[in-house]
Amino acid sequence: MRNRKPARPCFQWSAIGLSAAMLLGCGGGGDSSLAQSEQLATVQVSETATILSVKAELPDGAGTSSSEMQSRLYTFAAKVSAGPDAGLELRGTLVLKGDREDDGATEVEGRLLPDVVEAGTPSSASADLKSQFEAKRRELKVALRADVDALSTTLRRALAEGAVPGGDEPSTAQKEALAAFKVSFMQRMTEYHAALSALIADFRASSQPNMGSDDDDDKASEGYEVEGTVDAQGAMNLTVRLGDKGKVLATGTIGADGSVQNGILTGPGSGSVGTWSAMPAGATALPPAPAPAPAPVGPSAANGKVLYNAIPGSTMSCASCHTAVPANNVANVLKGANNASAIAAAIAGNKGGMGILSGKLTAAQLADIAAYLGQPNL
Ligand code: HEC
Repeated sequence: MRNRKPARPCFQWSAIGLSAAMLLGCGGGGDSSLAQSEQLATVQVSETATILSVKAELPDGAGTSSSEMQSRLYTFAAKVSAGPDAGLELRGTLVLKGDREDDGATEVEGRLLPDVVEAGTPSSASADLKSQFEAKRRELKVALRADVDALSTTLRRALAEGAVPGGDEPSTAQKEALAAFKVSFMQRMTEYHAALSALIADFRASSQPNMGSDDDDDKASEGYEVEGTVDAQGAMNLTVRLGDKGKVLATGTIGADGSVQNGILTGPGSGSVGTWSAMPAGATALPPAPAPAPAPVGPSAANGKVLYNAIPGSTMSCASCHTAVPANNVANVLKGANNASAIAAAIAGNKGGMGILSGKLTAAQLADIAAYLGQPNL
């Protein structure tokens, strides 16, 4: 752009002279290039049922570079349906903070804060506590939103002030502003997680007074460490660390409403498989982890054979890559024989590109396929 210095200060020009100044590029040129950088550096705050995010876009060479900070909040429910941990349930509030650069995968980390209320009909007292809890949780969220708005306003101003007229790269001042914003955002998120965790711990203590001092309970109220990724297509991959019990791997796909249904859970024990869901927190009814279809006779190898060759909702099937004859053990497919978690782990780990099946198969379907691989000549 034009960086021509006006020969004379523009304010001395008469009204007629002013239009001449525009033609000569005085004032007008400088202003419009500044306006352009300002237009290109944008900061957007958005909020959905599950995600509060701030996305900053900065002009960068020919295009723009973007950077997005997120806070995610879900009600998480998981149940192990087969394997050594069959029956194990995990329920709670899942809080994550995330960072995403240029539309790549979002790196997330946070905690799963276990729920309190045990199964059974809630008494009216506990229903009361629950609604108090919900109200306080909403308050925390509203306070978070207000602070995030304020931080975003500061960032927006700093980006505008740091814009270099005509510059098509982020200026040093803009980069610093963005870095400072990220630090503040992460700090605020850490506070939010701590406040939520304290709130949930309080709620635990008041709804289960007799268990308040239990060691296990204290540990559980701190929550479990969670980390993972969410890719641009919404495939979510989480690792939940259960301390001494090991870790579970949760993979699934985020649907149009922001929730995950019928995700696949593997672990903590080897061979343990189950399902999980993540719903917007505060959604009225916590759906129980989807129960595995009642299958009195165990996994169906016949159904597994059908699935091996055609997976609903996917153009790729196991046969596409492992050939239609699993008995030939192409690419070690028989490692999945009677071992659903080996298949789930290969999908979760994107072995050989198997990640494309992420979220396409339920735990029961994986068990069926594993059964078929156990008798591949069926
Ligand atoms: C996009 C192609 C592709 C699809 C679809 C696919 N696989 Fe694979 N799979 C591979 C490749 C390639 C490997 C070998 C990867 C390696 O060894 O690193 C593999 C490895 C495996 C393994 C061995 C994992 C291990 O621990 O070494 C199993 C079991 C398996 N696949 C089962 C399946 C089943 C069951 C399906 C269908 C539900 C399936 N695969 C779909 C390409 C695919």
